[in-house]
Amino acid sequence: MFNKDFIFGVSTASYQIEGYPFVDNKELSIWDEFVSKKGNIIDNSNGNVVCESYKKYKNDVKLLKELNVKSYRFSIAWTRVIDKFNNVNQKGLNYYINLCKELRKNNIIPLVTLYHWDMPLWLDEIGGFLNDEISDYFAFYTDVVTKALNGLVSDYITINEPQCIIHLGHRVCAHAPGKKYNTKEILHAIHNLLKCHGKAVSVIRKNVLNSTVGIAPCSRPIIPVCEANQLLYEKCKEKYFELKNDFEFPNTVSIYSDPIFLGDYPKEYYEIFKDDLPNITKEDLLLISQKTDYIYQNFYSGTYFDLDKSNKLIQKEFINGYPEGNIDWLQVVPKALYYGPKYLYERYKLPIIISENGFCNVDFISLDNKVHDPQRIDYIKRYLMELEKVSKEVPIKGYFYWSLLDNFEWNSGLKKRFGLVYIDYNTGKRIKKDSFYMYKKLIKNEGL
Ligand code: NOJ
Repeated sequence: MFNKDFIFGVSTASYQIEGYPFVDNKELSIWDEFVSKKGNIIDNSNGNVVCESYKKYKNDVKLLKELNVKSYRFSIAWTRVIDKFNNVNQKGLNYYINLCKELRKNNIIPLVTLYHWDMPLWLDEIGGFLNDEISDYFAFYTDVVTKALNGLVSDYITINEPQCIIHLGHRVCAHAPGKKYNTKEILHAIHNLLKCHGKAVSVIRKNVLNSTVGIAPCSRPIIPVCEANQLLYEKCKEKYFELKNDFEFPNTVSIYSDPIFLGDYPKEYYEIFKDDLPNITKEDLLLISQKTDYIYQNFYSGTYFDLDKSNKLIQKEFINGYPEGNIDWLQVVPKALYYGPKYLYERYKLPIIISENGFCNVDFISLDNKVHDPQRIDYIKRYLMELEKVSKEVPIKGYFYWSLLDNFEWNSGLKKRFGLVYIDYNTGKRIKKDSFYMYKKLIKNEGL
């Protein structure tokens, strides 16, 4: 059982739920541009309508209230609140002010993500993360938001999943802006992204009384096939943080989290990238490593490993009989919520909040007009059992299910459903799935 102060919540993100991308003087974002090119999104869908949360936010809050969540994590669209001349757009800001007021009225704590991938297009056109002034633009945006939401919001996440921003946006190019970078450019972009985080932390600390702040990376824990083997455990942990000059390096844990939590890039970084290093100063590292309050982390899946006869790690396919996620990367590996937090805590020693965890399912409206999703219920329970187990060893402060609503799953489009609430994209109707009622019960502390 989690204790009374444990934060149960749900997460969403602006582009994935809001709709209405062309109203109230909103600027275009890289996602508005990316979805307009045929072939970029599997089903050629986009976020133009989705859940219409821009207009229906009161309905969202009603659902949150019924669920009884302590906190709601959502993100702000930079493009709604700042225009391309870097002026404040009050109309867009009002949306977030009203949403936060509605949350507070209902005793729900807003947890605001400042950047969940929807970069202003004008900023991308002047270099995006390769522009050395981006951290100043981000600081200005953070200043505007924190002042506007003063008294309503004290909990901030600066950036969501830096790994996906860089790896999917600039290496694999499956996400916006889909601009390929070479190794030198990637390292440069990562450093500027970390400086954005650092400057935002300074602004939040200056503007917000009793603030909490963090960043929300994602990771896929390396899972030992058997629990009792200490050598296997140590090797799996080492692999989880390992940094190599390979295709996957923009996707690793330590290249982002070591500078933030330990004050510098991993030792091997300077050696393996010696020909491509960005300009890194002592001041940068101090800026980036300012104190944060939590380790937020998004966990969905994991990969099993074992030792071979010469004690080398080998990957293991594991048929565990659990439900299968309806998206290629989502293997159901509940132990991710045991080993992931443990590895992170042992290295970075801060309390942990799971900022996302969720299941993608083939959901549909049954003949009884309900949406039955036993697979998602099974997933949530199994993962939370592991989280409960690790919470005896590691301080775990909260868990946010991804997502409140079915929404636009980036390049995978609208058919990939993660929500506790089903969205009928033809009618806009919202239907609470069975998992909604299960999560509600669980929050009421009726147990797993
Ligand atoms: C990670 C991202 O933060 C979120 O935007 C996405 O929809 C979910 N995980 C599921 O892929």
